[in-house]
Amino acid sequence: MPKHGAERPADPQDDEILGKAYDSRLLARVWEVTRPYRLVVLVSAFLFLPIAALELLQPYLIKVAIDAHILVGDWPGLTHVAAAFLLALAGLYALRMLQSYLMNLTGQRVMHDLRHRLFAHTQRLEAAFFDRNPVGRLMTRILNDVEAVSEMFGSGVVAILGDLVTLFGVVAVMLAMNWKLALVTFALVPFLFAAAAYFRRQARLAYRALRTRLARLNAFLQESLQGMTVIQLFAREREERQIFESLSLDYRRAQFRSTVYDASLYAVVEAIGSAAVALLLWYGGGQIWDGLLTFGGLVAFIEYTNRFSLPIRDLGQKYAVMQSAMASSERIFGLLDREPALRSGDAARRPESRSRARSSIIQFRNVCFAYEGPEWVLSDCSFEVSAGECVALVGVTGAGKSTIARLLNRSYDVHGGRVLVDGVDVREWELTALRRYVGLIPQDVFLFAGSVEANLRLGADGVVSRQALERAATVANARGFIASLPGGFGYHIRERGANLSQGQRQLLAIARALVYNPAVLVFDEATSSVDAESEALVQDAMGRLLSGRTSLVIAHRLSTVKMADRILVLHKGRVREEGTHAELLRRGGLYGHLYELQYGR
Ligand SMILES: Nc1ncnc2c1ncn2[C@@H]1O[C@H](COP(=O)(O)OP(=O)(O)O)[C@@H](O)[C@H]1O
Ligand SMILES: [Mg+2]
Repeated sequence: MPKHGAERPADPQDDEILGKAYDSRLLARVWEVTRPYRLVVLVSAFLFLPIAALELLQPYLIKVAIDAHILVGDWPGLTHVAAAFLLALAGLYALRMLQSYLMNLTGQRVMHDLRHRLFAHTQRLEAAFFDRNPVGRLMTRILNDVEAVSEMFGSGVVAILGDLVTLFGVVAVMLAMNWKLALVTFALVPFLFAAAAYFRRQARLAYRALRTRLARLNAFLQESLQGMTVIQLFAREREERQIFESLSLDYRRAQFRSTVYDASLYAVVEAIGSAAVALLLWYGGGQIWDGLLTFGGLVAFIEYTNRFSLPIRDLGQKYAVMQSAMASSERIFGLLDREPALRSGDAARRPESRSRARSSIIQFRNVCFAYEGPEWVLSDCSFEVSAGECVALVGVTGAGKSTIARLLNRSYDVHGGRVLVDGVDVREWELTALRRYVGLIPQDVFLFAGSVEANLRLGADGVVSRQALERAATVANARGFIASLPGGFGYHIRERGANLSQGQRQLLAIARALVYNPAVLVFDEATSSVDAESEALVQDAMGRLLSGRTSLVIAHRLSTVKMADRILVLHKGRVREEGTHAELLRRGGLYGHLYELQYGR
């Protein structure tokens, strides 16, 4: 696998699809999000009228200054006009600033609201959703897409409206002043539009390519930094550097292409504007000789021409902003509309079920389940665990042991059959109550950056006392090593628990599951990847924990299994054998085979 990084496909759903720049349905939904800030949006939209008026006033003042005052030598009158010009200028910039302030303020607020809603929504989504959606894509939704939508406020729909108002104003004034001269200027408009459209299109294609390259570079960099130790271990630095360099080069080239088109657009628009000025001078000069136009009129026309080509140039850019804002909002609302597939049952555990629970706390009845695709992971799987019983679950890797644990705390829903905890279908349980009732010590321990205490408490501030945490740590056999850490419970754990040993992480995970003192404990391979000393500690902790508690111990180390009251052998989606260690060995079936594999006997 020489080029795994470079060939990793860029996120397909990511930012590459650009469609309509205007979609009334999506705009209506964005409008809905701006509900709290509508007054501000409306005020800043109406500011375009005075802004356009002041823009149009300036060339007219120049015309008056030249014709009525400069050419006749009226100094006091000229001073008045100059003062008026200054005032118009000051007013224009003040209004522009106010408008930009209001629009950006709204954009930022909408961005914050959307980010918040998206994060809150993703928290409600089920585990299967996160299986299908890579982290990078969700990050893009919550950060980049939201930003694209907010840009619409600063330089999208409202700015386009403003540009159109100015444009129509300029055209009207030019026609009214001197329609022949106006038509001469407008002769160049088709070229202006064509150039703007062409270069904008090219720039957009280049920009899209740029985003793809950047996504690839990001993905590669992230993986490479995370796997740096492995890369160093296998002396792959040179290869990785080459892949990085080629990705970075690709990115640089795309960036350059995008810049070239942008620059060309500006240059061409400028050139066409200059051509318009040349035309005006030539045709307007003739009109001045014929007495149809004043000097001031000509200068004012040249000024109007400038105010006319800039909005056309920028329309393309604003159109692009709208396009990506629409595409992003479609993705954002798509995510917000995606209902959580797992809905919490309304009732906390029904009280009358408790008495029935005496017999069996966990029941799997003809459970069928698959992650995706047609292959069942569990098919017609049935078993029970009685109150206070410790049951071990064994089976080859990939048999579906962890899956059973996930169904038990309802990370996923079954496709057939029922899972009952305490006599109640897990789908009827209130989710939080279920997950506090069934404590899971997962196969992959995930620790957060933060103190030991915060990791044990996991946000349950005020609910769990410090004493409860210490008790849990003691029972889990974690007390000793926590005390040896600098700062004890305050010791700062780094990202993913990098500064703890595997065994220490495992002990913390056990302590964390015990904080709520769950009635049922599920161990998923608690000792599979720890050293002998930690294993002894974990085993010892488990021995104490399990006595009197209902528990399901998943293990592929059979040494862990021997202490169980009963052993279930999972094979091909079903429980195939059941009994004590001695019974199963005597029978010499699947369990005997597993035991042989493990110990070579
Ligand atoms: N999140 C998932 N998405 C799709 N398939 C999965 C997922 N988790 C596990 N599987 C598949 O389900 C099967 C059972 O996995 P698991 O329950 O983890 O086995 P184990 O017995 O080793 O714990 C495996 O074939 C595995 O590839
Ligand atoms: Mg597993």
